[in-house]
Amino acid sequence: MLLISFLVATLFTLSTSKSLSLESEWASFKKNYDKTYSNPEEELYRQTIFHKNLELIEQHNEKATQGIHTYRLGITKFSDLTHDEMKSTGLIIDQEPSSVNAMHAKATKSKGKLPKSVDWRSKGILTKVKDQGICPACWAFATVAAIEAAYAQKNGKVVKLSEQNLIDCSEGAKGCKPYSVGMAYKYAQAKGIDAAKCYPYVSRKDTTEKSCRFNETCSEVKISKYAYIKAHNEEALEAAVSKQVVSATLDAEIQDFYLYNKEVVSHAVALVGYGTENGTPYWIFKNSWGEKWGEKGYGRLLRGNNTCGIVASVSFFPML
Ligand SMILES: *[C@@H]1O[C@H](CO)[C@@H](O)[C@H](O)[C@H]1NC(C)=O
Ligand SMILES: *[C@@H]1O[C@H](CO)[C@@H](O)[C@H](O)[C@H]1NC(C)=O
Repeated sequence: MLLISFLVATLFTLSTSKSLSLESEWASFKKNYDKTYSNPEEELYRQTIFHKNLELIEQHNEKATQGIHTYRLGITKFSDLTHDEMKSTGLIIDQEPSSVNAMHAKATKSKGKLPKSVDWRSKGILTKVKDQGICPACWAFATVAAIEAAYAQKNGKVVKLSEQNLIDCSEGAKGCKPYSVGMAYKYAQAKGIDAAKCYPYVSRKDTTEKSCRFNETCSEVKISKYAYIKAHNEEALEAAVSKQVVSATLDAEIQDFYLYNKEVVSHAVALVGYGTENGTPYWIFKNSWGEKWGEKGYGRLLRGNNTCGIVASVSFFPML
């Protein structure tokens, strides 16, 4: 529970005031998360869900006060979604790729030589935290984040790349549907990825399947190879993250990740560093749920113990 509470502490903004009326909670939720609804019926429907979620939060927090739970919950941008909507997190867990082009990054025996901490946020190679919205395409965001960083490392300039390109065009992907990080890398290697400025993200609110509009002239990056790190090797993952940003997967049964009990959460993120705080080793990951989530859009996770299944499956990084 300690592990989970460490994570959850970074996940939720605590809802503090119980005295606020439901109406004003709803109003500030909409304002905070920039929520607009297509019609009054939709809004009423969302408001009802929000109120139910608020009740669950309060019940949970009461139990936390009594010491039954070790952490508290709060309102997130997901608080107007139902259980079923939230369950679709958008990831098919990757197996080790068979492609001859994907190299296996082995554990280095140089653990002692690795830097004690790494934070790629401070190196000016990351784009701003993005917001996937209601489209379950974490796989595209985790892939693009690592490729953007590798591109900036190599070329000394930060260019936003297009997740929409991967969502619409990756072989076998069907738009805003759960899909695989490995397959997105495979596409980026075969075709490249357009710059976001000529292939902007439109699935934030509209998840209907779109046709592929890849524009070769606008293709900013083609990766020459990509590598994978086998599951259950946190040491190899650390060695990789010490050199560059890595696309990794959280795969865990997490209590109340989205307010509800015991969900199996599979979610792809970009690992952008690691460090230690008060003797507790942690990973830093870039999420794709906007800057209001977690620590300005980033999260931290205990390192060294497969926390939240961070090494339960294969991780990937690009080589340009
Ligand atoms: C492809 O990208 C180029 C360069 O940005 C642009 O001039 C051209 O109009 C684009 N073509 C299409 C079909 O969008
Ligand atoms: C690592 O995980 C195991 C199994 O979940 C747990 O028993 C142990 O306390 C954890 N160790 C640390 C240092 O958190």
